[in-house]
Amino acid sequence: MNEIFKNEVDKGLESNPKTLPSKYFYDKKGDALFVEIMNLPEYYLTRCELDIFQNKTQELIAAFGVKPDSYFELIELGAGDGTETKELLQTLDNKNYSFDYFPIDISSNSLNLLEKDLSKELPNLSVQTKQGDYFEVLASLKKNKKPKIVLFLGSTIGNMTDDLAAKFIHSLGANLHAGDKLLLGVDLIKTKEIVLPAYNDKQGITAKFNMNLLDRINQELGGNFDLNQFKHQPEYNENEGIAKSFIVSTAHQHVEIKAIGKKISFKEGEKIHTEISRKYNDELIEKLIVNTDFSIQTKILDSNAYFADYLLKRN
Ligand SMILES: C[S@@+](CC[C@H](N)C(=O)[O-])C[C@H]1O[C@@H](n2cnc3c(N)ncnc32)[C@H](O)[C@@H]1O
Repeated sequence: MNEIFKNEVDKGLESNPKTLPSKYFYDKKGDALFVEIMNLPEYYLTRCELDIFQNKTQELIAAFGVKPDSYFELIELGAGDGTETKELLQTLDNKNYSFDYFPIDISSNSLNLLEKDLSKELPNLSVQTKQGDYFEVLASLKKNKKPKIVLFLGSTIGNMTDDLAAKFIHSLGANLHAGDKLLLGVDLIKTKEIVLPAYNDKQGITAKFNMNLLDRINQELGGNFDLNQFKHQPEYNENEGIAKSFIVSTAHQHVEIKAIGKKISFKEGEKIHTEISRKYNDELIEKLIVNTDFSIQTKILDSNAYFADYLLKRN
C-alpha cells in the first residue's frame, strides 16, 4: 500500500475544510479520463497550447536559443501523454537537433504509454522517463551542467497555490544553471462563461475524473465512499482568476477508511476541496518569479490569446 497516499488522505480529510491532493487524480483510470478531458469541446486549454506548439514551433525553438549542433537536455515536468510536446519533438528530430528527452510524471502508466508512443512515432529519439513527484526530482537536475530546457505545460502550475508555485519555481531555479530555460504554459484569466464549462463539461467526464479520487480511496485504502452520495462541484471566481473543484457530500453520512482506521463524518453539503486551477496574467507571473533567479524572456500566445507559454530564462 502507498503509505504517502494514506497519510495525505488522512491529513486532508481531518482538515477543516476537508481537502484531497489533486496529484492523486492520476492513476490508470484518471490518466484515461484526463485524455478524454483534453479532447472535450469545453476544455480549450490543450487545444490552445497545441495551437502554439503546432503553429509557433520555430518561435519556440528560437526562444530556447538552441542550435542543431549543440547538445541540450529537454526535461518535461508532468508530461502526461505529451500531446503538445510531440509537435516540438517531431520538429527537433526532423532538424537533427542533439538532445535527450526526459519526461517526468507521477503516473508510471502515463510514462509507459508515452514511451511506447514515442518509440513508434519517433524511433530515433532518446527518451529517458522518470517516475516520481516533480517536487522530489528537482534536486537530481543539478547533478550535471548540461544546458537544460524545462517544459512545464498545460497550466499544471495552476494546480498549486500561489505560495507553493513561487516556492517551486524558486527551487527549480536553484537547481538549474545560468542560461537554462523554463517554458511555463499557463491559462490566462478570462470570463466565467469560458472558464467554468472547462471544469463542468456536459458529458460529465470532469465529474468522473474528480470522483475517481473517492474510488481510489475505496480501492487502495479500503474506503466505503458511496459515490451516489457525493457530487462534483466546480466554482470559478472571476476576480481572483481561480477555478476550484470540490466533491460535495449530498447527505449527512459517515465513511470508513480501513487503512487509516477511522470513520470520517460528513455533514450534508460539506465540501472536499480537490483542485485549484489558477489563471494568470503578466502581473501574476511577475509576482510568481520576483524572488527567483528567472526573468521573462518572451511570451507566446495562441491565436485566441486564451493561453500563454512564457519563456523564462535562468539568470
Ligand atoms: C494537467 S495534466 C497535464 C499533462 C500535459 N503536460 C499536458 O499539458 O497536456 C498534469 C500531469 O502532471 C502529472 N502530475 C500531477 N501532479 C504531479 C506531481 N506532483 N509530480 C509529477 N507529476 C505530476 C499528472 O500525472 C499529469 O500527467
